[in-house]
Formats: sequence, C-alpha cells, structure tokens
Amino acid sequence: MCGIIGFTGAKPAAPMLLEGLRRMEYRGYDSAGIAVQEGTQIRAARASGRLEHLCAMTHDGADYAGTCGIGHTRWATHGAPTECNAHPHLSNDGLFAVVHNGIIENYQPLREELMAKGYTFHSETDTEVVAHLLDMYYDGNLKNAVMKTVARLEGSYSLGVVCAEHPGELVAVRYASPLILGVGVGENYFASDVTALIGHTRTVIYLDDGEFAVLSPEKITIYDCTGAEVKRAPSHIDWTMEAAEKGGYAHFMLKEIMEQPHAVKSAIEPRLKDGRVVLGGLDLSRAQLEDIHSIVITACGSAYHAGCVGRYAIEELCRIPVQVEVASELRYRNPLIDEHTLLIVISQSGETADTIAAMKECKKRGARAIAIVNVVDSTIARLADDVLYTWAGPEIAVATTKGYTTQVAVLTLLAVYMADQLGRISPERYAALVEGITALPERCQRAIDLNSHIDRLARKYHKNSSLFFIGRNLDYAACLEASLKLKEVSYLHSEAYAAGELKHGTIALIEEGRLVVALACYEALFDKMMSNIKEVKARGARVMGVALEGNRRILTEADDAVYVPRTDPLLLPIPEMIPMQLFAYYVAKENGCDIDKPKNLAKSVTVE
Ligand code: G6P
Repeated sequence: MCGIIGFTGAKPAAPMLLEGLRRMEYRGYDSAGIAVQEGTQIRAARASGRLEHLCAMTHDGADYAGTCGIGHTRWATHGAPTECNAHPHLSNDGLFAVVHNGIIENYQPLREELMAKGYTFHSETDTEVVAHLLDMYYDGNLKNAVMKTVARLEGSYSLGVVCAEHPGELVAVRYASPLILGVGVGENYFASDVTALIGHTRTVIYLDDGEFAVLSPEKITIYDCTGAEVKRAPSHIDWTMEAAEKGGYAHFMLKEIMEQPHAVKSAIEPRLKDGRVVLGGLDLSRAQLEDIHSIVITACGSAYHAGCVGRYAIEELCRIPVQVEVASELRYRNPLIDEHTLLIVISQSGETADTIAAMKECKKRGARAIAIVNVVDSTIARLADDVLYTWAGPEIAVATTKGYTTQVAVLTLLAVYMADQLGRISPERYAALVEGITALPERCQRAIDLNSHIDRLARKYHKNSSLFFIGRNLDYAACLEASLKLKEVSYLHSEAYAAGELKHGTIALIEEGRLVVALACYEALFDKMMSNIKEVKARGARVMGVALEGNRRILTEADDAVYVPRTDPLLLPIPEMIPMQLFAYYVAKENGCDIDKPKNLAKSVTVE
C-alpha cells in the first residue's frame, strides 16, 4: 500500500525522502514522487514504476536544495499507475502539494464542485481534490485550511501537505490510515511506517484518528479535529536497522523464514514461567470466560489462516464454539455478536483496513477484543481491550512467514491459558502442551534444516502450472496457508482442499503429472489421507507427501517425502509450515519471480 514520508530540517530533504521511500518499498507500490519547497515555490518530480526511475530523474535527489518536503510511493486504486496519477498532487497555482494514503470516498462530488469553481484536474485520482480544497480554503492560515479541507473528506486518509507560503513547515493528517511522527534534533519527520524512520530517530509520536500535526525543524504541534492542541508523550522504537535489513540473505523472505526459531522463541519465552502460561496484560478471570458463549476470530490473508489453525486448539481445549471469518465478510454481515462474544483479531501489521473495520463493528456490538499483533502501538493494538504481541520483529517481505508462525504460537498459548482458567484441561495435558510449546524453536530449527532438500524438490516441480494442497484437520488448515504462500510469490495456480472434499468435484482436475502436495502429519487421520493419496495417484497425479519424521509409510504412495519434526498435534502447523514456505520461496526463485515484492500485492492493505 502507499507509503508517505515527510521531512523538515536543515539538510536537503530530497535524498532523505528517497531513502525513506526505499525503506517502504516492501509495502508494495507502482509509482513514486517527491515535492520539495524551493524558495517560494514547490518543485515536484514523479515517475511511474520502480523508485529507481524517480532517483534517476532527480539524480538521487541532488537536483533539489530545499530542506522541507514530502514523498510518496503509490499503490494504484483510483486511476492507472501513470506519472500523472502519481503523488504528490499540486494545486493549480502550485501553492500546495499533497501526498495521500487511503481512499477519499466522496471524491466524485467534491471533484464536480471544484471543477464548477474553475479548478482543473490533471489526474484521475481521488487525492487531487485535497490539493484544490486546501487552495480553496486557504486565506493565509494553513491550519484553518487543513481543518476546513479535512471536514469535507469522507473515507480513510493519511495526508502529508506542504505549502509554498509556509517554508519549513509540514502538515500531517491521520484518519483511519497509518501515520507516525518522528522526532529528531533540529529536524522532524512523518512516515506511514517506522521502517522509514529508524535510520534517523527512534523517538516517535503516534497520531490518533482525526488528529493532525504541524511540523517545523524545531517543533511538532498536534491538534484534534476541533483545532485544540493535544499533548502526546513520544514512544521509543526498539527495532534496530539491522533487524530491518537483509543480513546477507538473497531475499527478506528467506531471511524471515530462517528467523523463525528465534521469532517463535521471542513470542513464547516471556510467556512461559515455571511450566505455566503467563499472558501479561491479559486478565480474563474464570467468571469472565464462563460468560463467553462463543469466540469469533477475524483477520485477512495469512492472519486469517493462522486463525483457522487456532480454532482447532481453542475448540478442543476450551470447548467453546469458535467461528473464523475473513474480516471483509464479517464487517458487512450483521453478525451475531454481543457482550458474550470474545473477539480475537489477528494482524501482523495492525493496520489492515478490513480487519480494523470488522473489529470496530464487533466492539460496537459489545464484544471484548483481544488483538494478536506484531507492530507495537499499531491501530489494531490500540483499539483492542487486550493485546498479545507476537514479538516477531520487523517483517519486510510482502509474503508473511514468521508473522504467521508466531501468530499460531500465540493463539495456542491463549488456548492453553483459557482452558486452564476454565478448569477444562487436565494437569497432564497442560504440562504436555507447555513442553511442546517450549520445544517449538528447536522444532522450527529442525524444519529449517530441510532447506536443501526442499530446494531440490522445488527444482523438480517448479514447472507445474497448477497444483493442489490436500490435508485433513490441522493439515487442512495448514494447506490454506501453504497454498496461498506458493500463489503469492510464484504466481502458480494452486488450491487448498480438504482431502475428503476433493472427490466432490475437484478431482476432475487431477490429471497426468498434476502435482498434489499431501499434508499428512495429523497421524490420527493418516490412513484416511493415504486413501486420498491413492485416489489422486490413480488419476496420474505426482504426490509430494509431507509426513512426520519416521513415518516411512508415506513413501509407499508418494513420489517424494518431506519429513516434519514431531510435535504435539495441536502445534503441528508451526514446524509443518516451514518446508511449505521454503517450497514457495524456491519455486518462485526458479521461476525468476520478484520474491519480496510480488506483483499486485501489498504488505499492508490499508484500503478496503
Ligand atoms: C496482505 C499481506 C498478507 C497478509 C494480509 C493481512 O494481503 O500481503 O501477507 O497476511 O495482508 O495483513 P495483516 O498485517 O493484517 O496480518
């Protein structure tokens, strides 16, 4: 999704803006631009395609001497990814330049109104109305023009604004779209994302929805939507630059796959004390839990798949009905949710627009919301009643890996904690699960040791244009994510199927040479899986079987085997997913795909 950056200080702004945009490239974009105050003018440069085009056009920013400016990477929503539609957008007289993340839903009537008043539009974007509105309302007072403009906007937006008549000043506006202020010494910044700021400052201020800030090199003033000043204490960011960089790996995705033993350890270790699960910050008494009639898990993409896994553990251990639903459906469904519903919201970024909207909808109906989030102080974390951070560290590759496994780990801890509070888990089962969770980092490491074997399998199978992942129970939940991972990074068509469902239609697509990846780690249903493998083999499929270490029976039917380290069945999808992530990675590499930034995808989907 779009990335926004703003800088005001004593040194040239353009190189700093370009560097910030580079750090946010992973969010996904298809054009980029900057605007810098130069004397009494604003000069802008915009280019479609990769950021390198903008860098070449501006000689890495050296063409601009100004010390205050804004920058943007655009992920097209309204209008094609052309230079005209790239941000910043300027008002007709060149007085204002604007960058925007989000969607202005009422841009069409605003556009008509502004055209009737004589404003000329140069783009198809929703954003351009903001530049003209600012111009229309400006009478020398920048703050008032911003307030009057924002009052006209519907939708979601974070905005960065510069005005030629206010040298050294930036305005940042936030409404339902991420924006963070960075506090420097003699310079200040704003950005959509902390990764753009940590090279310069670790002191940040989070704006709340409806707030805006005026930044100069020496000062940041925050206002609410009525114009009243808001005092906000800064926060400190712990992430290091190194943590946000590739550390010698060819791609962020591979680095992040390899980091999983450590990431899972960070997620679980602080929550296991003397054989007990301790969830700091979560205070759910037995009485409160007994008052819960159902649990709803909502999320998007891989976080939704983590929820599909978590459901098995929660239902099995807590005996409370769990419904898992993608946020974009839940939000518009008039769901049966009330104060007896516990909502679990899962999000790596904490900024996914649909997830936020579904969460607000459920909270409005009285549900208590627990968020499982990676990015500290993100919108979802702040909206939640309780937050369980995944502590996975920064995730840069668009396709999530350690984000997913840490979400599953935290969900399992939550299931064990709630089952214990409810008195529904035996001491033996509790102890066995705690032992299994404690061993997860080592199991992840052993799964990573499959690296070269999976690389070989990817070379063997990467030419398949369409494939199937099949499994039962938790293996099926894992199939959903394994299939998505492959699709996202390699662009191959793939489908996840409950193995027993295959014969109700989809088996018609199984033909000579079709690759079927059969996840058969859930041993209680291993024999059933073997029957399903036989069914697809009988129709000519080639089968890559995924089974637990030591289970040689898989090779009586499968053409190749991947052996996953043994663990408690409820924890299986964590070590099991690692070879699937590696498979997706190596297939994509063989096929020459842009692994960290797959086409059409965005890391953080901050629009509907
Ligand atoms: C995007 C990303 C996915 C991610 C999903 C939800 O589609 O490409 O990898 O799973 O958003 O993101 P979240 O940050 O809410 O987990």
